[in-house]
Amino acid sequence: MSCTRKYDLSNRVAIVTGSSSGIGAEIAYTFAVNGAQVVITGRNAGNLGKVAKRIEAAGGSAPLQVIGSLTDEGFPAQLIKATVDKFGGFDILVNCAGGASPNGAIDNPNLLAEYDNVMNLNVRTVVEMTVLAIPYLEKSKVGGNVLNISSIAGMKAVRAFWSLQTFLAKSNYKYLKT
Ligand SMILES: NC(=O)c1ccc[n+]([C@@H]2O[C@H](COP(=O)([O-])OP(=O)(O)OC[C@H]3O[C@@H](n4cnc5c(N)ncnc54)[C@H](OP(=O)(O)O)[C@@H]3O)[C@@H](O)[C@H]2O)c1
Repeated sequence: MSCTRKYDLSNRVAIVTGSSSGIGAEIAYTFAVNGAQVVITGRNAGNLGKVAKRIEAAGGSAPLQVIGSLTDEGFPAQLIKATVDKFGGFDILVNCAGGASPNGAIDNPNLLAEYDNVMNLNVRTVVEMTVLAIPYLEKSKVGGNVLNISSIAGMKAVRAFWSLQTFLAKSNYKYLKT
């Protein structure tokens, strides 16, 4: 199935992290069917293959697939290198890989390990990817761009998750009442 172009991204190369599923996969697809060369990346090789097939079926160029975890030492640099080796540089970085802790409850014995995982993925790797990308984005002939995909959950406690913030809010309330 082909898709009519809404934008002209034909002179652009984009790295989209977290593009093996969800929002990142849709961003990669939309960029590719509008003419961009895309680099898709994630840990799940099978999902990356499905995203690549969908892009090609819609008339987009075959994406470069780079498999790995952004939290592994050296992988962000490897991702940038693979992109530069293939395309000579890039114009857009989309930081979309992210996720939440499966259990943010205060009595979770693994809470701090999960906190570290979430902060590493959602914050540290975004800073690392951006720092590594800047020298290439500055050289872009069409103007480099960084797009960070975040969540309202990063700013606001969500009761349903029984988060640490929710626990603290409840504790303060009880404390103030007594
Ligand atoms: N869905 C929503 O309603 C919503 C709303 C607001 C914001 N967001 C934000 O949007 C972003 C994407 O969310 P989504 O809903 O599209 O989630 P998703 O479908 O679970 O996608 C998460 C992506 O991140 C990748 N990822 C996870 N851990 C990774 C790691 N260690 N190294 C490399 N890649 C990793 C996953 O790939 P692999 O599993 O293949 O590694 C996957 O491609 C997140 O930052 C989320 O906070 C989502």
